Amino acid sequence: MNLTIVGPGRAGMSIAIAAHRAGHSIDAVVGRTLASADVAAARVDATPYGIDADFPSSELMLISSRDDSIGELAALIAGRIAPQPGCGVAHLSGLVPRTALASLAGAGYRTGTFHPLQTLPNPDSGAARLSGAWVGITADDLAATLSDFARSLGMKPFEIADNKKALYHAAASAAANFPLASLAMSYDLFAASGVPFEAAQPLVEAIVANAFELGPRAALTGPVARGDVGTVRKQLDAVAGAQPSWIGDFAAAVRVLARLSGNGPQFDEMLDNWRRPEAGT
Ligand SMILES: NC(=O)c1ccc[n+]([C@@H]2O[C@H](COP(=O)([O-])OP(=O)(O)OC[C@H]3O[C@@H](n4cnc5c(N)ncnc54)[C@H](OP(=O)(O)O)[C@@H]3O)[C@@H](O)[C@H]2O)c1
Repeated sequence: MNLTIVGPGRAGMSIAIAAHRAGHSIDAVVGRTLASADVAAARVDATPYGIDADFPSSELMLISSRDDSIGELAALIAGRIAPQPGCGVAHLSGLVPRTALASLAGAGYRTGTFHPLQTLPNPDSGAARLSGAWVGITADDLAATLSDFARSLGMKPFEIADNKKALYHAAASAAANFPLASLAMSYDLFAASGVPFEAAQPLVEAIVANAFELGPRAALTGPVARGDVGTVRKQLDAVAGAQPSWIGDFAAAVRVLARLSGNGPQFDEMLDNWRRPEAGT
């Protein structure tokens, strides 16, 4: 397949490098200016273009600019670059709907969205992480092309409806970001107890594996899941003493876990009545 990448950033270049390695041909890498596309294009044997130049539409154009610029960029391209016959264009956002490409659809492009459900922090590690990652696709007559392209990179395509993208994106954020809030809390509590954070790695990896093997509710473990109110009260006392800035978050997490494990009422009662111990007690 011939590709044009518009927006040579983290996600766009991760896909470009993976596609190049998989044997696709990258016709064009398009940056804000010719200079900003130059180095990226050289990595995938492509021709660099600035956005104001006449670049080729290719069989598949990927718009990989940040979410808030997709609609504007689509309108700009629709007004200037005619699609080659059958050409498809997709953006990479998990949140922005396919309708953001309406101007390109009006200009004769087939449109879709292609959201790698993976973190792509830079082009090199991003390219390596795409194989095995799932990718959310929103399209109609471009769906087969995008799915075939995904599979050629070792990715697993799934369909996501345009009107479900915001909810899907919230789910992805909860999966990717919320565990980090709890790990940051854990990091500080380990530090205050003189234990290295690294000691938790095998435990955390086993819990994540359990969540996907058993389901997150069945994977619940620890004193809250066991209904051990006395143990959790002692934990609250210790956290309040050593890391008082975390106590509200710790208590809130206990409430969520208690609700999930069916122990909500007994923990709500304890938490409602719990008082921070006086200093020195
Ligand atoms: N990174 C991830 O982990 C990830 C994962 C899945 C999906 N995505 C999606 O991928 C898309 C891009 O995200 P990103 O993280 O790759 O952002 P990014 O690293 O900031 O890359 C965006 C690129 O687009 C370029 N650009 C902006 N406006 C342009 C224009 N008018 N003409 C040409 N190029 C333009 C930027 O150039 P400048 O640097 O000059 O502004 C930059 O190279 C977003 O929709 C995001 O939701 C990202």
